[in-house]
Order: sequence, then structure tokens, then C-alpha cells
Amino acid sequence: MTRETIRVGLGPRSYDIVIGPGALAEAGARITALGRGKRVIVVADARVAGLHGAALEASLAAAGITAETLTVPPGEATKSMAVLADLLDRILALGVERRTLLVALGGGVVGDLAGFAAATALRGLDFVQIPTTLLAQVDSSVGGKTGVNSKHGKNLIGAFHQPLLVLADTALLATLPARELRAGYAEVAKYGALGDADFFAWLEEHGPTLLAGDGDAMIRAVKRSCEMKAEIVGQDEREAAQRALLNLGHTFGHALEAETGYGDALLHGEAVAIGMVMAFDLSVRLGLCPAADRDRLARHLEAVGLPTRPARDRAWSVGALLHHMTRDKKVKDGRMTFILVRGIGQAFVTSEVPAEPVAAVLADAIAA
Ligand code: GLY
Repeated sequence: MTRETIRVGLGPRSYDIVIGPGALAEAGARITALGRGKRVIVVADARVAGLHGAALEASLAAAGITAETLTVPPGEATKSMAVLADLLDRILALGVERRTLLVALGGGVVGDLAGFAAATALRGLDFVQIPTTLLAQVDSSVGGKTGVNSKHGKNLIGAFHQPLLVLADTALLATLPARELRAGYAEVAKYGALGDADFFAWLEEHGPTLLAGDGDAMIRAVKRSCEMKAEIVGQDEREAAQRALLNLGHTFGHALEAETGYGDALLHGEAVAIGMVMAFDLSVRLGLCPAADRDRLARHLEAVGLPTRPARDRAWSVGALLHHMTRDKKVKDGRMTFILVRGIGQAFVTSEVPAEPVAAVLADAIAA
């Protein structure tokens, strides 16, 4: 079976991302190879536990590993201090020791929550990510950002805590609702848009078939995405500089999500799709990027069924969106940080953006 392995190079904290269909069934053998003992605690949401928990437990049992599974409710509300506190209590009640390994089985919510629980229980347990969504396979399971949301904003409480291993079983993506798969694809397109024009051109050709179930194309897309993320994180684990490139589309996108309540009205990937078009539009207005590249990005996102501007069924306000943007984590010395582009595949980070064109991008995007 096709297996691709990407190494995230972080010195003593380096680890592999194993990509391909059937990787979940290898969990027992691959976790055994980590040499961390014969007991794991699996954290999953109730839905994913129902879909994939038995296969994981069977693989672990076949390798002689005892697994206890703790479930949390599905949905973004689970990324909270309340659920974290309860999860930590349940983990500690099981009588963990430093060698106990946590396994996060699920999408971004479970990966971020379980990763943060691993970072804090006994001042740090090792953990393994088994991402079950496209978004988690190409983004959130890789790179060690873990955490929960606060009433002051998303992901404001957390820790950098790298996993020991990521198992990205692309066959699991077959059970994802089409809309969720598409939303995850926005993060795939992001890698092409930020740093690899050839990959973007490949996605223009293969994106629609990949979303329609072309497994080989999916493996290649997940692999290239993880390769790019591994390279960026390997150079800048704590986002002092170029890791911020991974936030292309996120400054605008988070403002849209904050307005819509981080829920089904607008999925994270959909917000990123719209946010990327806005970031390209801002770059065009600043005279940095040809309009043709902005239009090409929008055409591709539309071709795979992603939104490229905020929905018309809501009364948006420039002021409210700007307010969310200035509260973003990426604000530095009171200035907003933007990821801008000189074209497809040529992103860069800057805090030197005047306010007027930002407001103009928002005003045009929400205009009827
Ligand atoms: N998702 C952005 C990052 O991991 O830095």
C-alpha cells in the first residue's frame, strides 16, 4: 500500500507524518516502535469513536497495547477550558504515569484539545495524532500547536507541544461529509497559494477529482501539504517569523468566523477560502500582485465549490470585522500582521499595511 513519510525536523522533537490509506491499522505496530510502553489513552469525539474507534483499538490490541478511550462531544464548543478540565480529571482518574501515551483520534478540535491535555497532564505526556479530517491531516495535527478557545477569542489558551507521530490515514476521509472535505481542501490550496505555484497548478487540474474520491491525488495533496508545513515549522516552530505564512487568509477569515460564531454557518476552511481571496485582493490594491492571480485563485476555489466572498444572507459590517481583526493573536505592537502575496506561490509577512485599503477590501467583499 502507498505510504509516504514526511519528517518534521525539530532536533530531539523530530517526528514522522505517515500518510496513506490503511495507516490507522498500523497504529499498534507504529506506536510499539515508539517504545513508550504498553498502555495508551485514546481521546476521540463520540462520532469519530463510533466510526474509527474499533479499528484503532483492534490495531492496538493486536500489538499488545491496552487502550482506554475517553470521548468528548463533537463540535467547536468542546475546545473549552471546561471540557479540558473534565478531560484532565478523567485522564488523571485512570492513574496515568509519565510514560502513558495519549492518542488524539479525530479532527482539529480533538487534536488541539487532546494535545493540550497531553501538554499539561503531569507537566507533559507524549502523544500521537491520528487526524481523521482533511483539515487536521494537512494542518492542525502537524506542528505542535495545541489549545482551547477563550471567551476572548479562538485558540488563545494553549501550548506548543509536538506529537511523537502523526498517522494520516487518507482512507478515513471517505466518511467525511462533502462540505467538510471541501473546507479542508481550502488549507491544501493555501499551501499552493502561499509557496508553491507548481502545486497550485497541479491542484487546478486535480482538485476536483481529488474531492470526488481520487485516492492517489489525495495522497499526493496531503503529502505536499505536510511537506510544506514540516519545512516551515522546522525552521520556525514558535512562529517568530515565517510560520506566520501558514496564516494566509486567516486574519480576514478569523474575523468572518468570529462574526458567524465559529459554527456551521461558516466552516473554518470556508472562512480561509474567502480570507485568502481578500488577502490577494489587498495585495492587488497595494500594487503588489497582479489582479489576474487573485482572479485565478478565486476561480479555482469556486471550481471546487468553496465560497470566495461572504454570504449575502447576513448584514456584515466593516467596523465589526475590523474590530475582530485587531483582536487577533497576530497583532504586534498594536499593528495587524498580514500575509500578503506578490502572486500565486509568493506570500510574505508584513505589519506595514495602511488601514484604508484593508477597510476597502472588506467593504467591497460585503457589498451587495
Ligand atoms: N495552522 C497554522 C500553524 O500551524 O501555524
